[in-house]
Amino acid sequence: MLQGVTADISHMDTGAVVRGFLGQPQLESALTGMDLVVIPAGVPRKPGMTRDDLFKINAGIVRTLCEGVAKCCPNAIVNLISNPVNSTVPIAAEVFKKAGTYDPKRLLGVTMLDVVRANTFVAEVLGLDPREVDVPVVGGHAGVTILPLLSQAKPPSSFTPEETEYLTKRIQDGGTEVVQAKAGAGSATLSMAYAAVKFADACLRGLRGDAGVVECAFVASEVTELPFFATKVRLGRRGAEEVYQLGPLNEYERVGTAKGEK
Ligand code: 2OP
Repeated sequence: MLQGVTADISHMDTGAVVRGFLGQPQLESALTGMDLVVIPAGVPRKPGMTRDDLFKINAGIVRTLCEGVAKCCPNAIVNLISNPVNSTVPIAAEVFKKAGTYDPKRLLGVTMLDVVRANTFVAEVLGLDPREVDVPVVGGHAGVTILPLLSQAKPPSSFTPEETEYLTKRIQDGGTEVVQAKAGAGSATLSMAYAAVKFADACLRGLRGDAGVVECAFVASEVTELPFFATKVRLGRRGAEEVYQLGPLNEYERVGTAKGEK
């Protein structure tokens, strides 16, 4: 399987060198010298499961990989995708703290798929090209903790209460929509890969020193009373160099933020 995936990916004309590594014995070779580590590893949901049901298995996987990061590339930026992101990010933080390498700016939970979904669904409602739409999504990456800020959508748009309710629910349940459609064969993989690339590319542009790279991510935060929260962040050489405030919220979003915090 590993050889197959390596061969498959190596045919893409991206200019990136592709190498495959397998299992814990090769973890060190895989990680040494890395500037950016993307962690999608773990088991996916089946219908009827929440992301929290994955906690036991995925927490252990994330721990092992983060121990490797702490040892082999302690200054790397980590993009954590493994679910439940709301819990795996705090776990990774603890692993890094224990190893003495924790830098909150370099640990980012990937919530880009929520933004990708929000852009797609909002574009559908507005009759626009999704590439012209940008909707910030804050909070976390599970159910009601996912909160699209439609009032801050670009281009500026107004939504009826019914549209707001429909869009918010559809974005919050986007992952479950895929889990149900796949009927036991797993959760989103292709849209997740697309979102992961979009986010990793933004991190790489930040690492390269590009100015004004801003994306939503689940990071250590002082924006609310929660220790970790997704908001817009500015990505730079040191990771999430600036964590932005929520900005003006409408009544629906204020209620939603309070729900997500509980
Ligand atoms: C999703 O939102 C897999 O959590 C991922 O579909």
